[in-house]
Amino acid sequence: MVFSFTATASFGLEAVVKREALALGLKNVSVLDGKVNFTGDFSDMAKANLWLRSADRVHLNLGSFNASTFDELFEQTKAMPWSDWIPENGRFTVIGKSVRSQLHSVPACQSIVKKAIAENLKAKYKIEWLQEDGPEYKIQAALLKDEATFTLDTSGQGLHKRGYREQAMSAPLRETAAAALISLTYWRKGRIFLDPVCGSGTLPIEAALIAKNIAPGLYRSFAAEQWPQVDRKIWTHARHEAYAAIDADFKPEIYGSDIDPEAIELAKANSAKAGVGGVIIFDAKALEDVRLPGSYGVAVCNPPYGERLGTVSEVTKLYAQMKSLFSADDTWSLNVLTADEFFEEAYGRKADAKRKLFSGMIKTDYYQYHGQRPPKKP
Ligand SMILES: C[S@@+](CC[C@H](N)C(=O)[O-])C[C@H]1O[C@@H](n2cnc3c(N)ncnc32)[C@H](O)[C@@H]1O
Repeated sequence: MVFSFTATASFGLEAVVKREALALGLKNVSVLDGKVNFTGDFSDMAKANLWLRSADRVHLNLGSFNASTFDELFEQTKAMPWSDWIPENGRFTVIGKSVRSQLHSVPACQSIVKKAIAENLKAKYKIEWLQEDGPEYKIQAALLKDEATFTLDTSGQGLHKRGYREQAMSAPLRETAAAALISLTYWRKGRIFLDPVCGSGTLPIEAALIAKNIAPGLYRSFAAEQWPQVDRKIWTHARHEAYAAIDADFKPEIYGSDIDPEAIELAKANSAKAGVGGVIIFDAKALEDVRLPGSYGVAVCNPPYGERLGTVSEVTKLYAQMKSLFSADDTWSLNVLTADEFFEEAYGRKADAKRKLFSGMIKTDYYQYHGQRPPKKP
């Protein structure tokens, strides 16, 4: 059976998620603000959850209708075939959203939708009381210009929760954002990768997962794994395929260093949990002591910025050290994510490309300095 799905993406990363979806062979891929839609069966749903590196979540689209009064919202919600999805003991929560709609009270919409679904299920299962102690169903009811759209979250925890980073140092990057930042560079698995301010190691770990072709969701579970509608064999098969796809023999050259020895210990522990222990060369050292390991490498990093992470003069000193490191070899590319609006001025060179991205609620820019391309192999 073919369903319609939406992979949600952070602002600015839709094109990256679209590229990943196409690479997975997903069908009818299209992009809207913050969303990448595709169609497929449950195997595609499993594949998308296991493999999409930069998406936030994968939702199953249930349908939409117009509603500008609470009555309309209640009646039309109640008329939807909820028992197709939610079993008698299913636990379900409703997350509401309302943008430019007459029904603007999100808590009121949420409780009306929840009540309408409960009424529907009680009538369908001929029961007075919903036990709600079974598998979990997170329903999103999003109103946009009076159109209510319903989706079911197939992922559960956000896809950034790969399962390898239980602990992080201050200001860690989301794993999904780290993967996207890497994908926006010219780095390919045969090239050297470096993060000289790697903190808990997110960027080098994501690079290693890409280089070894390890599915980012391989070591975690997903909400739809508990759903009785989805045959367990579908998940088992998708996981078997993902294990078989790992490039176990490939030895990428990936480096991560940080001035904080505790961060490096954490990065090592995280990389081991991610299944790439021993693949990355981690080193506790200050940026000023870092030397470029070879040529045609790609550095990706988010240096400290803001009161929590360093004073202005410390940060400026760090940029100067970064400049002297990377300007020594023009085969290297440097990619910096920062909320520092004056990064280019402080670094002393205009970036070859700059794109706006959001890191949580913070507006950040991604500054890209492209190095020479490696010579083509004969
Ligand atoms: C924003 S955090 C990086 C977070 C990292 N991407 C992660 O996901 O965990 C910045 C890091 O820069 C490190 N740092 C600050 N000054 C440094 C220096 N002079 N040399 C090397 N690392 C430094 C800090 O210890 C911190 O871990």
